[in-house]
Amino acid sequence: MTYSRIAGTGSYLPEKVVTNQDLEKMMDTSDEWIRERTGICRRHTAAEDETCSDMALAAAGQAIEMAGIEVTDIDLIIVGTVTPDKIFPSTACILQRRLGIRGCPAMDIQAACSGFIYALDLARRQIETGGATTALVIGSEILSRLTNWEDRSTAVLFGDGAGAVILQASDEPGIISTHIHSDGEFEDLLEVPWGISSNYEAVRAGEAYIQMQGNAVFRKAVGTLGSMAQETLDGNNVDKHDLDWLVPHQANLRIIAAAAKKVDLPMDRVVVTVDEHANTSSASIPLALDTAVRDGRIQRGQLLLFEAFGAGFTWGSALVRF
Ligand code: UT7
Repeated sequence: MTYSRIAGTGSYLPEKVVTNQDLEKMMDTSDEWIRERTGICRRHTAAEDETCSDMALAAAGQAIEMAGIEVTDIDLIIVGTVTPDKIFPSTACILQRRLGIRGCPAMDIQAACSGFIYALDLARRQIETGGATTALVIGSEILSRLTNWEDRSTAVLFGDGAGAVILQASDEPGIISTHIHSDGEFEDLLEVPWGISSNYEAVRAGEAYIQMQGNAVFRKAVGTLGSMAQETLDGNNVDKHDLDWLVPHQANLRIIAAAAKKVDLPMDRVVVTVDEHANTSSASIPLALDTAVRDGRIQRGQLLLFEAFGAGFTWGSALVRF
């Protein structure tokens, strides 16, 4: 049996930092409200000429270096994003060209904040069934372009960034299991309500922004993350006390704390980056993972649980022996 393992991680954050104090000057909000309700202190925002593939390329470079592979070893590229460079071709194809490789499949996946887990699920199944040996799996987002800076209920929540992993074929399971789900019933609770085939005029006028009924999303996220953790642990006969780290999607510190409680992990075994990065959608889990790998918290051989929840709704998890 062929398994897959994470051979390297990487990430990228744009240079510009926007603090809560900066936002206080732009809208009717306060550092206190943002920190108390979300845990966010600051976020990075992309430069005007920076693109999703620019950030993906930087994160990919780090992951490739850590994995110790040649770029030409990569035989599958999947990018999770809701903010692609172009409508088409995919950001993955643009990235492939920029990496200087040709021929291997490259695709984007759109599963909102669960995009990285969806991409990981696809990549590990490709590797396990012989379709690939070395996959580049990325989450990259420029959410500042989808933010209505006059809407305080959403503008304070999001940030830009990218995270990447190199997933390689292995004799032993690194990725033990992945679990992905969706339920389109809740489309209206979290959305950018227009696109190419519906009210494109609004998109062209620059009015297509993130809209969210925060409180309803909050409640759904907490409930779903709890049952997803149970599904993941039960499916693998793993006791929650065997987990070393929870690496959750970084939307809100209160949601993260509730998820940690469900698996009985103290907060010092939870990777938290929402304070520094805010919500970077599909980039948030690989960004958090890379942060904790590079600062030495996450060590080889440890058992990790990834959990994501986002628009759709979509949700997903991965149990990983790092
Ligand atoms: O990544 C995908 C998943 N996304 C999420 O998981 C996000 C889930 N939702 C949340 O994180 C939280 O619901 C929020 C952080 C978005 C909001 O927190 P909340 O505790 O649910 O607050 P609320 O929406 O119920 O609003 C409470 C009050 C309202 O005022 P009133 O009506 O009580 O007078 C809002 O108008 O806070 C007000 N408010 C703000 N005040 C200052 C909303 N946004 C702000 C703001 N600054 N930025």
